[in-house]
Amino acid sequence: MTESTATASSKAQSADTRPAGESLTVRDNRTGQEYDVPITDGAIRAADIGKIKHAEETPGLAVYDPGFVNTASCRSAVTFIDGDKGILEYRGYPIEQLAEKSSYLEVAYLLIHGELPTKDQYDSWAHEITYHTFVHENVKRFMKGFRYDAHPMGMLLASVGALSTFYPESRNIADADNRHMQIVRLIAKMPTLGAWSFRHGQGKPYIYPDNDLGYAANFLAMLFKMSEQKFNADERLIRALEVLFILHADHEQNCSTNAVRSVGSSQVDPYSAVTAGIAALYGPLHGGANEAVLRMLRRIGSVDKVPEFIEGVKNGKERLMGFGHRVYKNHDPRATIIKKACDDVFEVTGVNPLLKIAVELEKIALEDDYFVSRKLYPNVDFYSGLIYEALQFPPEMFTVLFAIPRTSGWLAQWLELVQDPEQKIARPKQIYTGERTLDFVAANERWK
Ligand code: CMC
Repeated sequence: MTESTATASSKAQSADTRPAGESLTVRDNRTGQEYDVPITDGAIRAADIGKIKHAEETPGLAVYDPGFVNTASCRSAVTFIDGDKGILEYRGYPIEQLAEKSSYLEVAYLLIHGELPTKDQYDSWAHEITYHTFVHENVKRFMKGFRYDAHPMGMLLASVGALSTFYPESRNIADADNRHMQIVRLIAKMPTLGAWSFRHGQGKPYIYPDNDLGYAANFLAMLFKMSEQKFNADERLIRALEVLFILHADHEQNCSTNAVRSVGSSQVDPYSAVTAGIAALYGPLHGGANEAVLRMLRRIGSVDKVPEFIEGVKNGKERLMGFGHRVYKNHDPRATIIKKACDDVFEVTGVNPLLKIAVELEKIALEDDYFVSRKLYPNVDFYSGLIYEALQFPPEMFTVLFAIPRTSGWLAQWLELVQDPEQKIARPKQIYTGERTLDFVAANERWK
């Protein structure tokens, strides 16, 4: 028997009785001891590694993983991704089917509740969300206080955070009805706050929600309505926006979802937790790639310059924005769906002239060994910016358009977190590299 059952894991089975392949034998060469660490669901517990010590009084072995590249922080039943096969599923349903046959609100229900709604459940959900689209008038006054050129994502971030002060009861996260109420409010109010942060930058009046309209149609009305009595967007644009919302609704443990979970683990109210997600999404490495794609396409300028640009990428002088993904190494299933949505949108708005450059880039890159050997394929951001631009959104709005649908995913993950008995307050370890036990000399002594 190895040292393991005594020291590496109190729950560990003996190596003799556990079926082969369900444990890991670790030999600590500092001591010569072997530890038997159980493998469950393809993972070992970091706490088991922490039991490996080279002397009783020393801290246990830690796992160093900046960026959580190979660390699972939770068990989750919300979203499944197989990056090698290009599979994305929400609650087990393939993204392709949801994008084709579902609506954003139905997908939001699925993410939050874990199963598809019956007709009655859907009607009541859609009614609740629609009923809560309005925000307190003081929120409007608060938003009006921003500078004329405030970034809409910064406005959204602040306004969602401010909502916690309007609903102080939201901090009672142990109560299921209360949690549900705040989830409904957040999903309902995000389009209102997003649209108002857009109107603000344009100096246009904020438009109140039109509760006769569906989720995406109402959002478009709040964005673009002027003096007309009723704003009815083209059905094809409404559907394209629904599809984009569905595609962006969740993406398992990405940076912003991890932020929501990490902040939520302190048991703060969901407005504050979601605000952390919006802050993470604000960063260019997360929500800003589609804007970078547009800048790149503009810089290339015309189709005949594409080969020269590709050479620059291969020589390491450039990066082909909208290509490559940390997880997807075959294709990003969202990119395929977005490409189709492009055609539908351009049918209404006219073709974005940058599309030709994008198509040529994709064609050359998919045939070139540099990209093929590195498994670089178009990701969700390669075409989404073109659609947003065709819909007349300035680039600063792109991340807002991402944050609105991602709210249902953040909340589904938050709900899972607060009900998971295994979860604890997020508190990573560090490897301390600084000074120790220095003698402090007071300022009046040091500055003599
Ligand atoms: N253009 C050119 N070369 C690339 C690119 C690219 N877009 N992406 C990766 N590579 C190369 C990289 O230089 C490296 O080559 P080598 O092995 O010779 O050093 C190799 O491919 C592996 O790249 P990596 O940087 O180790 O891969 P990663 O998984 O760390 O990075 C990525 C993933 C998305 C940050 C990266 O592909 C990238 O910067 N892409 C462009 C930006 C972009 O489109 N971001 C949006 C991602 S989708 C967002 C979402 O899912 O929400």
